[in-house]
Amino acid sequence: MNSRRNFLKTAALGAAVLSLDGPSAMAQQSRKSSGKGQKPIVVSTWDFGIAANKAAWEVLKKNGRALDAVEAGVRVPEADPNNHTVGYSGYPDRDGRVTLDACIMDELGNCGSVAALEHIVHPISVARKVMEKTPHVMLVGDGALQFALENGFRKENLLTPESEKAWKEWLKKAEYKPVINIENKSYESKGTTAFNPLHLPGNVYNHDTIGMVALDAQGNLSGACTTSGMAFKMHGRVGDSPIIGAGLYVDNEVGAATATGVGEEVIRVVGSFLVVELMRQGYSPEAACKEAVMRIIKKKPEKAKEIQIGFLALNKKGEHGAFCLQQGFSYAVTTGDSPAQERLIQGKHYF
Ligand code: GLY
Repeated sequence: MNSRRNFLKTAALGAAVLSLDGPSAMAQQSRKSSGKGQKPIVVSTWDFGIAANKAAWEVLKKNGRALDAVEAGVRVPEADPNNHTVGYSGYPDRDGRVTLDACIMDELGNCGSVAALEHIVHPISVARKVMEKTPHVMLVGDGALQFALENGFRKENLLTPESEKAWKEWLKKAEYKPVINIENKSYESKGTTAFNPLHLPGNVYNHDTIGMVALDAQGNLSGACTTSGMAFKMHGRVGDSPIIGAGLYVDNEVGAATATGVGEEVIRVVGSFLVVELMRQGYSPEAACKEAVMRIIKKKPEKAKEIQIGFLALNKKGEHGAFCLQQGFSYAVTTGDSPAQERLIQGKHYF
């Protein structure tokens, strides 16, 4: 009897120790340590995240809402004619049509999304309107365009001469293979004629996404994700970026995550949701991103060697981290800390 009581006592103690040290206690701690008075922070994917974060920071530094910050932030690359991975001047699909995907999510679990949207420079703002003005989460194609026009968005031609030239070049061979880190290769090609085969090893040009997540002074998280999708994709192809849980996920109790890279593989593991759930279990942002990358490698080990995917995460304490398949994924961090208010960090990688 005595020994049974001792065993139960020891077992109870063991359980207590486990729960104190274990992931759930860490998650609980991280929930408690946030709230009003939080130092704002915004993180976003790739080198072009620096300019996007600047716009987001304008909102955050005035104690604005993270939701407003991420929308303002990603609108910068959406409108940038030198960025061929997002919004205006994005590379078109194989039929020469620029089709955009975007989603947004706030601290209350509200979310909105558009996919295969044409002719609108700021799909992220249409996604926000879907979230705020409709009973739905997602509108696609012509329906999304109709909704945008009804809500005052202007119809524009998004195909710039540079993007059209790149598409026509591609048509000569019409091969379809994602190129690793094309986001930065394309962006590096400097404003003038963004299409530069010298910067694009391989024959075909894939391109990608800005994902941004932010924590505001009220301790609330939000996120946004927007892209023109894979360059020269099949018409109608939709990647991970507008899919809540894949390209973006926010849980205000835990953290937020976003993804970049070949969307099909991110969708397969519901990547951003996975990262947030791992953080809920106590993983650090970087460890959670790494685990999601490992899941992708486990599912398709051969394919994983040839593509780029990166995850970026921010937890409720304002800690950030990233992990990717291949070298070359960068992310931008902006905080109020001086002197380094903005930093570009190279994500750790598996291969
Ligand atoms: N990650 C963007 C896409 O696959 O379309």
